[in-house]
Amino acid sequence: MEDKKKNILVIYHSQGGTMELMTNRFVKGAAKEKDIAITLKKAMDANIDDLLSCNAIAIGSPEYFGTMAGMIKDFFDRTFEVAQDKTIGLPFVVFVCAGNDGRGAIAQIERIAAGYKWKKVQDHLRVAGPPTEKDLEELEELGQTLAAGLDFGIF
Ligand SMILES: Cc1cc2nc3c(=O)[nH]c(=O)nc-3n(C[C@H](O)[C@H](O)[C@H](O)COP(=O)(O)O)c2cc1C
Repeated sequence: MEDKKKNILVIYHSQGGTMELMTNRFVKGAAKEKDIAITLKKAMDANIDDLLSCNAIAIGSPEYFGTMAGMIKDFFDRTFEVAQDKTIGLPFVVFVCAGNDGRGAIAQIERIAAGYKWKKVQDHLRVAGPPTEKDLEELEELGQTLAAGLDFGIF
């Protein structure tokens, strides 16, 4: 019987399209590792089963009003109680887009991830202003690095 592939859950929110573009590049990078499965969902459509069945999570959020998008927070609100002692050590990465800052969103997501006791495996990526091609290449690299690390059992 074929081994079940390890799975990355990628959740994001995007009102204006910027984070959707960034997330798609992250996924493009992750998909280069053929032995890793990817579940890509808008945060509002992701649920506890998605979280409990993943081997790593990537979170893409715009910064709105100095913090993460409400729908990202909503995902945490909906999953924390059930997931909190079942996802300890889950590798996670965060990427944020913002008009000019983004640090508030990253800090708040970090705080919540610490509550779940997830494991930060890469520096989080923050894009302030419209993403350049270099930013998008970095996202692709981040996706591939997460997938490769998972595949090789490093994370
Ligand atoms: C309601 C709202 C609040 C925002 N608040 C911030 C903010 O606090 N700091 C910041 O740097 N950018 C802020 N921005 C700019 C967005 O983070 C930025 O335009 C981002 O790329 C939007 O991502 P999206 O197109 O995926 O929705 C805000 C935008 C909106 C619509």
